[in-house]
Amino acid sequence: MSETENSPSRAAGHAAAERFLKRFYSEISPSDGAKTSDFDPQPSHPAALETQRMPLSFRIEKTRRAASKQLDPDRRTNLGQFMTPEITANFMASMFRSWPNDAQLLEPGAGMGSLVHAFANEFFKRNPAGSLKVTAYEIETLLADYLCDHLEALSRAYSGLEQEVYRRDFIREATFSTSFGATGFTHVIMNPPYKKIGNNSEYRKALRTIDVTAGNLYTAFLALAVELTAPLGELVAIIPRSFCNGMYFRPFRRWLLNRVAIKQIHLFESRRMAFRDDGVLQENIIVRLEKGGKQDSVLLSTSDGATLDHYRERVVPFEDVVKASDPECFIHIPTFELNGVGMLFSCTLAELGLEVATGPVVDFRLQEHSVAGPIDGTVPLLYAHHFAGGRLQWPKQHKKPNALRVNESTRKWLMPQGWYTVTRRFSAKEEKRRIVSYVVDPRELPFELYGFENHLNVIHSRKRGINPELARGVALFLNSTIVDQHFRNFSGHTQVNATDLRTMKFPNMETLNHFGEWAGRQSTLDQRRIDDFVGAGHGNEVGTD
Ligand SMILES: C[S@@+](CC[C@H](N)C(=O)[O-])C[C@H]1O[C@@H](n2cnc3c(N)ncnc32)[C@H](O)[C@@H]1O
Repeated sequence: MSETENSPSRAAGHAAAERFLKRFYSEISPSDGAKTSDFDPQPSHPAALETQRMPLSFRIEKTRRAASKQLDPDRRTNLGQFMTPEITANFMASMFRSWPNDAQLLEPGAGMGSLVHAFANEFFKRNPAGSLKVTAYEIETLLADYLCDHLEALSRAYSGLEQEVYRRDFIREATFSTSFGATGFTHVIMNPPYKKIGNNSEYRKALRTIDVTAGNLYTAFLALAVELTAPLGELVAIIPRSFCNGMYFRPFRRWLLNRVAIKQIHLFESRRMAFRDDGVLQENIIVRLEKGGKQDSVLLSTSDGATLDHYRERVVPFEDVVKASDPECFIHIPTFELNGVGMLFSCTLAELGLEVATGPVVDFRLQEHSVAGPIDGTVPLLYAHHFAGGRLQWPKQHKKPNALRVNESTRKWLMPQGWYTVTRRFSAKEEKRRIVSYVVDPRELPFELYGFENHLNVIHSRKRGINPELARGVALFLNSTIVDQHFRNFSGHTQVNATDLRTMKFPNMETLNHFGEWAGRQSTLDQRRIDDFVGAGHGNEVGTD
């Protein structure tokens, strides 16, 4: 072995990549004997039972092992070389609805061809005498070698299968061919790489020439695949959920919704399928799209992680997924039914005369002005950890300071004494709720000014406090299970940013004040009582003292 291969970082990289592939590539490994994945209980979607249909899965596993030893770990991250597990691939193939005798399949960024393999199995099961032409793109030479090998084996198994592997950059090629109006794939199946595309990158420029705005490789791949699909052709893609509600994805959402009908969205509810992007935990979804199709209701399905356990589905009107009146074109995934509570989501904070800010104090910038405990000339510096266990606990024994000196350097970052509603921006992994809200009561903090640290969101009005009923009412509403479910329908993030709160809808002023008056009268509150009050009759007193 060469010195480079022996270096600790490279070895660690290989080990991490190997661990990653093991988790994501959950086939049975002949030499491992036992199962390689840590989750393999009773699958409940038929796709999960299909995994052993073709002995070729052994070949992929062998290939995976060989390839994982040879792939460069850095390049693997850059090119997003993380393969689809076989159960997921089979499930994706089973999602297509149209099965003509003659089909043209595209897989851009095909890796070792696990998605083509799953699609071919499904196609020839339905059309034993059918003809399938596969076009696969793979930029990585090593993977392309394995891909060719794999697809050749597949075409020996299925005589109706014709295949072509392009060892080229899909974005460049597709941008070029779409500029000539090339279309024609009846089916696309894909798990594209996920990585941001720089503003001045060559990809961005190429995409602009065909009017596609994509800031991430996965949106670029999806947009180009849509362009290359024949009218009424179907696309099934596993992609991050981030494009559904990120502000930054708005042009892409518009572009997409003008060209395709969303027919199905599948959400993996388990965090096991989550991955990190920009340091934020988020979920993956699988979408089935129909190019130029009629947009009617959407099939929503969910399952618990990669085994497709607890598979559930329901049909929802498209209006519940994308509101006709929403200029942002947010794509909601209403996996929770919010029956009859629509009126609780009627006004934005701005319509209520409220604003939301990220806590203005960035502690390391004001480090020299912070002190461990309150002393003369200081005011409270409030961190997320001060809001725990259902109430504000300040000051608190902690490695972080409790107070900030008031002076010329700090004053502009402080907010005046008053009632505020705050939420933590990050929920702890083990926490059940995504939104946790608290009220700052000035009677408990008799200081002229407050410092809110950057990991908090603060609801205020013109940088001042708000009326006590409203502060309590907003907090009560945000702490209800209905809001937690609503937020999950809307966002895959565990992070709750000021923008999320800005775009979220709240009850009207009268209802919020009513909530607040009630909350002010309660000596203790638990989840059940909050939910009874907020949910039942939307603020009619139910189960009050
Ligand atoms: C997330 S992997 C998925 C592989 C395969 N589709 C699967 O589901 O197992 C993405 C693949 O895209 C390839 N890739 C990345 N950028 C590419 C590009 N510009 N053109 C073609 N392939 C690319 C990577 O090498 C990698 O194999």
